[in-house]
Amino acid sequence: MFQSQVDRPPAAHWPTYVVDQGWADFTAEDHAVWDLLFERQVDLLGTRVIGQFLDGIDLLRLSHPGIPELGELNAMLTSRTGWRTVAVPGLVPDPIFFAMLSERVFPIGNFIRTRDELDYLEAPDCFHDLFGHIPMLAHHDFAEMVEHVGRLGVAAIAAGHGERVARIYWHSVEFGLAREGEELKILGAGLASSFGEAHFSLESETVERLPFSVERAVNTPYRHDVFQPRYLVSGSLDQTVADVLALSPEELQAD
Ligand SMILES: [Fe+2]
Repeated sequence: MFQSQVDRPPAAHWPTYVVDQGWADFTAEDHAVWDLLFERQVDLLGTRVIGQFLDGIDLLRLSHPGIPELGELNAMLTSRTGWRTVAVPGLVPDPIFFAMLSERVFPIGNFIRTRDELDYLEAPDCFHDLFGHIPMLAHHDFAEMVEHVGRLGVAAIAAGHGERVARIYWHSVEFGLAREGEELKILGAGLASSFGEAHFSLESETVERLPFSVERAVNTPYRHDVFQPRYLVSGSLDQTVADVLALSPEELQAD
C-alpha cells in the first residue's frame, strides 16, 4: 500500500518551493543559449537515445525556438499524461522532490547556464530539466513509473531509507541505459542532456555496464561529481518500467 496524502510528513509540502518561472525575464541571450544547447544536443544524440525520447521532443514541440514557457508546455504535457512542470530556484531537497514526483509534478530550474559554461553545471538548470527529463514524461508507461518512484521515495524517506530510492532513480531515470533491439541506447536524462557523458556512457571502454535490476540499482552507489564509473543497462524501456513498477515500498525497505 502507498502512503495516503494525510500520512505524508510535513516536509512533503512542496508548493512552498515553487516560484514563478519568470519567462518574460529571460533575455535574448538566455534563449539563444537554449537554442544552441538544443541544436547541439540533438545533433550529438542522433539515434543514440531511445526512440520514445525523440517522440517526446516532437509531441511536446520542444524544438520550438527559445526556452519553453511552462504554462504552454503544461497544456500539452498534462493533457497527455497528467504530468505538469513547476519552476523552482534550484535543487530541491529529496523529500520535496519525491513528494512532487508522487503527484506527477516535475521541478524545473528557473535559470539557464551561460554561454561561458555550456558544459559545466553546479545545479541542474532548465536545459537539463526540460530537455533531459520532460520528453520521457510524455510516454505513458514511463510517466507512471516516475510517479511510482516518487511514491517509493516518500515512503522510503519516511522509513529512513532514502538512499535506496535515490539509487533506483539515479540508475534508471537519470543515468540508465537501455537496449532497443540489439542496440545500446541512452535512457536517463542526465545522459541525454550531457554533451560529454552521452557518448562516453555508450562508447567508453573503461566503464562497467551491468544488467539493470532493482536489487542491483539499490546496491550500486553513484557519483555526483564525475562521469559514472558504471552504468546499469536495462533489457528494454519496458523492462525498466515493469521492474520498477513491481517494487513495493515494503520490499524496498526490507533488509
Ligand atoms: Fe535530473
